[in-house]
Amino acid sequence: MSHVHARPLCVAILAAGQGKRMRSALPKVLHPLAGRPLLAHVIDTARELGAGAIQVVHGHGGERVTEQLADAQVGWVEQAEQLGTGHALMQAMPAIADEASVLVLYGDVPLTRAETLRALVTAAGDDGVALLTAELEDPSGYGRILRAADGGVTGIVEQKDASPAELAIAEINTGMLCAPAARLRAWLARLGNDNAQGEYYLTDVIAMAVAEGVAVASVQPRSVDEILGANDRRQLAALERIYQRREAERLMDEGVTLLDPARFDVRGRVRAGRDVTIDVNVVLEGDVQLGDGVHIGANCVLRDVQVGDGSVIHPNTLIERAVVGRRCQLGPFARIRPDSVLDEGARVGNFVELKKTHLGAGSKVNHLAYVGDTTIGRAVNVGAGTITCNYDGVNKHRTVIGDGAFIGSDTQLVAPVTVGENAVIGAGSTITRDAPAGELTVSRARQITVRGWKRTIKKGKEER
Ligand code: UD1
Ligand code: MG
Repeated sequence: MSHVHARPLCVAILAAGQGKRMRSALPKVLHPLAGRPLLAHVIDTARELGAGAIQVVHGHGGERVTEQLADAQVGWVEQAEQLGTGHALMQAMPAIADEASVLVLYGDVPLTRAETLRALVTAAGDDGVALLTAELEDPSGYGRILRAADGGVTGIVEQKDASPAELAIAEINTGMLCAPAARLRAWLARLGNDNAQGEYYLTDVIAMAVAEGVAVASVQPRSVDEILGANDRRQLAALERIYQRREAERLMDEGVTLLDPARFDVRGRVRAGRDVTIDVNVVLEGDVQLGDGVHIGANCVLRDVQVGDGSVIHPNTLIERAVVGRRCQLGPFARIRPDSVLDEGARVGNFVELKKTHLGAGSKVNHLAYVGDTTIGRAVNVGAGTITCNYDGVNKHRTVIGDGAFIGSDTQLVAPVTVGENAVIGAGSTITRDAPAGELTVSRARQITVRGWKRTIKKGKEER
């Protein structure tokens, strides 16, 4: 949209309601949608609009809200008593300049598209009011939009104050509106609470605007999903599914194959290259970047991970805060813990745990191993059952394995320890001192055979 609004935009987010129906100790707006508080999504949308200022009206569990969203860079306003939406907005007005346009959002309505709100701000213009409305098959519970014979909005009536004829109106008030600050301030000052709920209704300002001859426009969202709030956990779950479907569709539009878009969850920000394939029950959290041709098998969880082109993550693999290079293979059943880096062509197989480990290009840790606090060079083979003993009960120590080394199966590397380039460690060794480059180092009891030894046998049993 090319329209440049003449007034600075201030977003006021109403978030003081208790949310009784959540039956929760957690304030409603802190309940997570896609892993982040509902309110954080609304703040993101306000940011996306380029709002000059964002004021959040909080009340119930206020400290938890401001603490958890301390980095949000918004103005916090407390509404000590919840006396209605008009009263809530009134609390925010002292922080809002007269020349601003005020856009009102709800902290528990997280799926409104920025483009819808831009249209709302544009419809309000410099001096008018705009309401976001929707036609619902079942409008019960919502305020209804009253219109004159010529179609112009004349006011809003709340469900509890409505006549039977008004209750039959299908067009509802979503609660989101835009109005010039100076006018809003004057209208709010005149609000009364003589209504069925004894509350100061923000919705009453509409009739005041109409009485003053101020234009009241209305805008509808592209989809009804955009106006849905989370009043109970069923609604929250429904919002989660809508959010996830949107994310899945966005990724498919960008060229990602999802074997089942309904069994795929994003809780963060995902960027994917071309021809990425994601199997069922994959969860992507935090910041995830997937290169071209990456394939993720079923039941994988990736949190804050970068995966290079052509890498394959086999089923049931968990990767956290790691960088996986190009053409790597991980899993099935691998666990990559934070601060691990895999260079090109590295392989980590089943039942292998890596922590703070750099695995060089083409190196392999294929079966049943724990490798922590370790630097592994290129083309190293770490045998099955190898363990780095990186912790002495007090401190962590590093293991260093040079290029081309071969670590025999069931080896314990007691850190701090270094295995030189092209060194070979015999299977079953406990390595407590550095192993020199290019040599075979082995530390295990020599095998002996006791000739003629007899097994004890139970009485009455024949000797075989
Ligand atoms: C309000 C609207 C109604 C609309 C509906 C949409 C009014 C009077 N009515 O209804 O027309 O159809 O939203 O969902 O505005 N809040 C506060 N402080 C308060 C009261 C509410 O911060 O004192 C916040 C709540 O946290 C919530 C939002 O305002 O985010 C709406 O509150 P809610 O009680 O759900 O509004 P309703 O009265 O149901
Ligand atoms: Mg409500």
